[in-house]
Amino acid sequence: MSFEEDIRAASDVIRDSEEVTIISHIDADGISSEAILALALSREGIRVTTRFVRQIDPLTLDQIPSDSSLKIFSDFGSGQQEMLKEKGLDPGRTIILDHHVSQPAESGDGGDFIEVNCLKHGFEKMSAAGVSYFLALDLDSVNTDLAKLALIGNIGDMMDREHLRLIGPARDILRDGIREGSVELWEHDLNIYGISTRPLPQSVAYSDDLDIPGVSRDPDGAARFLERIGISPLSGNRWPVWEDLSFDQKQAVSSAIIEQMVAHGKDTARLFSDHYLFPGEDRHQASLRNASEFATLLNSCGRWQRPELGGAICRGDRVVAYREAEQMLRNHRSKIREVMLYITDTGVTELSHLLYIHVGGRFPDTIVGIGAGMALSRLNPEKPILIMCEDSLDPSMTKISMRTRPEVVSRGVDLQQALARACELHEGCSGGGHRIAAGAFIPHELEHAFIEDVNRIIAQQYAETCPYHS
Ligand code: C5P
Ligand code: C5P
Repeated sequence: MSFEEDIRAASDVIRDSEEVTIISHIDADGISSEAILALALSREGIRVTTRFVRQIDPLTLDQIPSDSSLKIFSDFGSGQQEMLKEKGLDPGRTIILDHHVSQPAESGDGGDFIEVNCLKHGFEKMSAAGVSYFLALDLDSVNTDLAKLALIGNIGDMMDREHLRLIGPARDILRDGIREGSVELWEHDLNIYGISTRPLPQSVAYSDDLDIPGVSRDPDGAARFLERIGISPLSGNRWPVWEDLSFDQKQAVSSAIIEQMVAHGKDTARLFSDHYLFPGEDRHQASLRNASEFATLLNSCGRWQRPELGGAICRGDRVVAYREAEQMLRNHRSKIREVMLYITDTGVTELSHLLYIHVGGRFPDTIVGIGAGMALSRLNPEKPILIMCEDSLDPSMTKISMRTRPEVVSRGVDLQQALARACELHEGCSGGGHRIAAGAFIPHELEHAFIEDVNRIIAQQYAETCPYHS
């Protein structure tokens, strides 16, 4: 079946339902997917209740009510179909909307869930919020107003990072958002994060992708660099954000950065990327004015046990929920920074094909992967990083997160496959994700053996792609 046919099969079942339970992931993609689905279904007169969970595993499966409502899993489920089958979910009354690698339940009665997974149709750069958006459109074309939420989910899952722009069906969502008036595209703009909230020297100094001598990782150096080209603090010594600059000022900054990088022989290939702006959001609520910062705000709610707060913001709450979410955001940012500094200060252990570190119970398992991803550009980005921590729900288990860079993926490394294969070798392990970012839960006594296995599997992946790599 085509993607459109899969969507239609799911929407037909939804139309026939009076009551739906959505089970969604706690990250920005899961929160925005849930909001898209809940809004679209409510518009059809369908009653919706939601459960957010960290991952589908035997513990969290118990939170799913065993009632007659139609169950929709969003942003997970494809890789956990055997578990869903064991839980006794009715395949005809269970829909999976996902973009993770699919592992259908082993043959036998009751394995065929209604699954819409964009990855199966070759759309690798679209997230669950994108799938949910196309489903919402199939229910009613009026739902184009949800394009903005779909973009936030896609950007939250970093679907733009490899090509520095959205491509494929996610680009069609962008077009809907622009046509509908809620989204503005800044094409081929400077590849920095925090264009609406971060003082410019910070933004330029801490871009993961740029290596600008005298500027990168040195906000004072960045401030001097900007002042030399005539960009200086506004009144009250407050630096402008990227969004505040005029077109000419932006050109001046970009040209000066190119000059500096070229003069030092640096690669400028990742200097520019697209930004997705939301002009309708108030400047006083600047964290909502572009897709990547909005996604961070949602992550800071969901990954700290308050996904419903993010859900309220997706539904338009700009007062009570937003105020609380801002506090969550401050906490999230400082904790992620702590994880990153802990990793870089403590140092990682380097194996032949990966870097690893155990952070014990210092940080919640929901954020260690993000911190590891950020630390990677300060370590040896040629090797994937594997971070372990205590599973906050089950002390007998260890949570593993892995991250790598697009260049490493293009050389044949596939973290999802590495973790899935390592999990198959040991009892009690489950894992999955994407080629570039993946995670697993394993019994903690297996840590050592598991890391050795993952290292060996990654070595094999290199060998299979390039037989002469050592
Ligand atoms: O479960 P899920 O797909 O939603 O998790 C996505 C997470 O994977 C993102 O929040 C991000 O931390 C990570 N990721 C990444 N780089 C990418 C894609 C995803 O670090 N290119
Ligand atoms: O938790 P973390 O951000 O490291 O997750 C990275 C990716 O791995 C996400 O896409 C997540 O859904 C996936 N994952 C998984 N199974 C796990 C843990 C994480 O599929 N047990």
